Amino acid sequence: PSADLTLDPHFTVGAVNRRLFGSFVEHLGRCVYDGIYEPGHPSADPEGFRTDVMELVRELGVSAIRYPGGNFVSGFRWEDSVGPREERPSRLDLAWHSTESNEVGLDEFAGWLEKVGSELMYAVNLGTRGVLEAVDVLEYANIRSGTTLSDARIKNGRVDPHRIRMWCLGNEMDGPWQLGHRNAEDYGKLASQTAKAMRQLDGDLELVVCGSSNASMPTFGSWEHTVLRHTYDDVDYISCHAYYEERDGDAGSFLAVATNMDHFIESVVATADTVRAELGRSKRINISFDEWNVWYNTRFHAEEQITDIERWPTAPRLLEDSYSVIDAVVVGNLLISLLKHADRVTSASLAQLVNVIAPIMTEPGGPAWRQTTFFPFAITSRLAVGDALEVRLTGDTYTTALYGEVPLVDAVATHDPATGRSAVFLVNRSLTEATTVTVDVARLGAVAVLETHTLTDDDIYAANTLADRERVGVGPNESAAVADGHLTVSLPPVSWTAVSLG
Ligand code: AHR
Repeated sequence: PSADLTLDPHFTVGAVNRRLFGSFVEHLGRCVYDGIYEPGHPSADPEGFRTDVMELVRELGVSAIRYPGGNFVSGFRWEDSVGPREERPSRLDLAWHSTESNEVGLDEFAGWLEKVGSELMYAVNLGTRGVLEAVDVLEYANIRSGTTLSDARIKNGRVDPHRIRMWCLGNEMDGPWQLGHRNAEDYGKLASQTAKAMRQLDGDLELVVCGSSNASMPTFGSWEHTVLRHTYDDVDYISCHAYYEERDGDAGSFLAVATNMDHFIESVVATADTVRAELGRSKRINISFDEWNVWYNTRFHAEEQITDIERWPTAPRLLEDSYSVIDAVVVGNLLISLLKHADRVTSASLAQLVNVIAPIMTEPGGPAWRQTTFFPFAITSRLAVGDALEVRLTGDTYTTALYGEVPLVDAVATHDPATGRSAVFLVNRSLTEATTVTVDVARLGAVAVLETHTLTDDDIYAANTLADRERVGVGPNESAAVADGHLTVSLPPVSWTAVSLG
């Protein structure tokens, strides 16, 4: 099989926003406790944060990190999580049937973000709380001093405001599982009131309104339309969430899930632009794809759930998916989908960061390691700089049970006018055959191959585990070569590849 594409630095989709490489830390399972935070660990710093995890987070190249949930946030009282630790209450977390100690809260997490060099994206509780609590946490976080809540922050040892720019107006409010779930009318009104109040306090915010929890929700489309009719003037982004998994051994469909993400993004853009036309506005609403990943959700639901109220554990092992080669290829492909829509997807969060459906795993008292999905994320975050380019791809196709006929190869490219460097990101979805890709790079000028990385393995279900932490990695792709204005590269079956040119 083969595929061809042409790159032209003049044909851009849009600038790649660094926020596309965001992630998500929820108070869920061992993401925070025994994940980023483990005071007794040999690598813990004076604040109790694991420095081995911090190093991996930096290497992953994560921009904004969404916090503190997730479903957790809809039962969360933000004020429980600040102030002297010994006075913080323990609470039952209704979303995950766990006990939350509140040992780590807003101030500690903001301090951790400074250490790893990432930005805070904070979600307010619009499930069981409302406008006043949202304004209160904003006052605590962003007002310099001179008010009760800003002075409380200073007393708690955080003299400078956190200056949080990105705020999520609740989480997955379309989902019946969400505490305080509302219909689109009711949520739209609440989100509009909350956004207006928050902007009265701080005029320099970027606000994300909840879109659909996935594209298969029965309200998908109408939810976005109704919510945006209420909030169009108040918000900057609408969220999308999507998780994918291989079902019933159908690897062919699983490898093509990025076509579903493409469809999801394009549908939400169309709906947002419809509301724009209806209201006669010039501003555009962009997408914050603030939860996306591979998640073996059906396995999680098949497990015994924690129900006995007397034994809601602290930091249980929940949603600890072990990712394989095929999962990493899919994650690489989902990044390609996000980049292909860089004009409208200007923020995204890989859900989540540590232990919980995560690229980084830890063992209490033991090591931290990279899952297979770490590699495509880290490399794409490092190399996808500048503008995303329009990529017209022709090539062989295959037929899937879930998505019909799809291309065997998917690809996107970026070009950085500042350095003249470009990068091409590719996946080969064939289960059996290598595919040769020819890329016309003549319009990029005289370029050479700077770096190549391919993730593949004879065993597509191989994974990195505690017992074998470096079983899967990335290696150079020796086939990549530029001659006569064309890059040729051979992609092994079920593989993800990045080529940097300059
Ligand atoms: O990321 C895990 C969960 O998935 C989040 O808490 C929720 O928002 C989504 O359903």
